[in-house]
Amino acid sequence: MKEGDLELLNEMVKFEESHDMDKEYKIGWGWRHVRVWPATLSRLFKDGYLETVFRSNSFTGYRLSEFGRKVAAGAKEKEAPQTQIKLVFSEDLFQDIIGHDEVKELLRASLMAEKPVHVLLTGPPALAKTLFLWDIERVCGEKAIWLVGSATSKAGLWDLVAERQPQILLVDEMDKMNAADTAALLSMMEGGRLVRAKVGRELDLQNTIWVVAATNRLDMLSPELRSRFAIRHLKAYSREEYLTVVKGVLVRRENTSPEMAEEIAKMLDGRTQDVREAIRVARLAPQLGCEKAVKLLLG
Ligand SMILES: Nc1ncnc2c1ncn2[C@@H]1O[C@H](COP(=O)(O)OP(=O)(O)OP(=O)(O)O)[C@@H](O)[C@H]1O
Ligand SMILES: [Mg+2]
Repeated sequence: MKEGDLELLNEMVKFEESHDMDKEYKIGWGWRHVRVWPATLSRLFKDGYLETVFRSNSFTGYRLSEFGRKVAAGAKEKEAPQTQIKLVFSEDLFQDIIGHDEVKELLRASLMAEKPVHVLLTGPPALAKTLFLWDIERVCGEKAIWLVGSATSKAGLWDLVAERQPQILLVDEMDKMNAADTAALLSMMEGGRLVRAKVGRELDLQNTIWVVAATNRLDMLSPELRSRFAIRHLKAYSREEYLTVVKGVLVRRENTSPEMAEEIAKMLDGRTQDVREAIRVARLAPQLGCEKAVKLLLG
């Protein structure tokens, strides 16, 4: 059985159940009725999942065989009791993120709740919003799907979720998500179902999905999308917080020596609140020295 065959068989079961086969499809249904390529139907027939009711030069009428129905039903039974695996997070979740204690607490509690609480992080640039999503992905592995709003459209969000069955959806830059994916997301967040326009089939969500998203353009999101999230505004760092974060980031992530990190943090104190600026200084400092790097970068 090829990948996707089971889904097709299930669609055929639904099709047969929603029509009176003896009246409407006395001579069986054709590929146009179920929107499946003739070659695929012929393969499923050869493998015994379908039987032919009628054959002429221009039309082959199929019906699901006893075996085909059994396989589809068996798979459904296996899928049905698929319960949510409770997410458990190790102690090291968010350990690289400095401060933001309440955000950490909120995310942990939301992800471990019995039923989903979706969280949206918003606020000015360089406040570790993306870092939060990364860290959840790092810890959750396969159970999480990472998406950037502007790049979700290729497969379509619904197809992606149907295929990978994630428990967590991490959406960065959500304001850039296209309309189709946003509509899918709205439905998913309520545990809903959706008709896939492309093939005209309905798909149910088997797993409940937790969504954690980030944006710095909250104003771009529709009210109904905002309403589905617990929105947490991250405030720009105070001067004191900025010093702590810069020192921490430079030492832990940029391999800067503690002394140089301290020097850079002090030089930038009061001049910028942007952690990325400090990272740029740290990367140029070995060549230029801190003072020159700050001068060239900040003018
Ligand atoms: N509290 C923090 N702890 C650790 N690293 C931080 C913290 N704040 C900022 N950074 C660092 O700042 C840089 C930017 O962080 P990140 O990309 O997560 O920001 P963002 O909030 O997503 O910004 P944007 O809105 O521009 O996308 C990263 O290199 C990150 O390591
Ligand atoms: Mg970001």
